[in-house]
Amino acid sequence: MMEMRTKEPIVIAIDGTSASGKSTNSKRVAKALHFVHVDTGAMYRTLAWYCLRHGIDVRDAQGVGAACWRWKTALQCVGATAYLTVEGYHPATEIRTAEVSAAVPHVAAVPKVREWMKCKQRECLKFGSLVMEGRDIGTNVFPETEFKYFLDARIEERSRRRAAEGVKEDLAERDWRDSQRASAPLMIALGAKVINNSEMTSEQTSSLILEDVRKRLAQAGDKAGRLAASRVSQ
Ligand code: DC
Repeated sequence: MMEMRTKEPIVIAIDGTSASGKSTNSKRVAKALHFVHVDTGAMYRTLAWYCLRHGIDVRDAQGVGAACWRWKTALQCVGATAYLTVEGYHPATEIRTAEVSAAVPHVAAVPKVREWMKCKQRECLKFGSLVMEGRDIGTNVFPETEFKYFLDARIEERSRRRAAEGVKEDLAERDWRDSQRASAPLMIALGAKVINNSEMTSEQTSSLILEDVRKRLAQAGDKAGRLAASRVSQ
């Protein structure tokens, strides 16, 4: 596998519907390129978990927004994975419960929360080049990146994948909530490469992304080389 070394950090934005393979593929791409992996869904889940734990009603946008600017969090990067800790604790398993899954879309719809998350997510650049997965990375968090991918799969296939993980969830309902909210809704970023992986393995999906990243980097290198060459010949 190749290692990418570039002067400026690069952000690869991987957005998409629930259970479209964002996590598996983001991790594979990050590993292959030696980039840091950031799961932004986990950051929203961490806030939902915090609210549930502190008796904050997740439907109370004002209360949730206030909690988000008050809680004591830090960004950590361990083993090329960046995540949020709360009062020094990383709730890795606690954020995956059905209760948190049901609460998180409410929290994620609060504009003040999204503002806070965007700041924190952009701050991850301090760790170096990133593969960041979410719903609004290409449209809202890093709209300037050239590397935008949108994953999707048929609803039957996505439900089958969730069930295989032992999770029973109404994915259509969650996608609907994520795409209908007023603040940074789930949508395909302009210029994003859309990959429907209903009939693909994760190896095939991540290979497709890696191929495209390499092609774009080579083109950018060519362009920079041509510019430098034209300056020399002038
Ligand atoms: O990917 P996930 O299921 O862990 O995401 C949890 C929730 O957070 C989901 O309802 C969508 C929301 N989310 C978001 O609104 N924006 C992101 N960048 C990431 C996740």
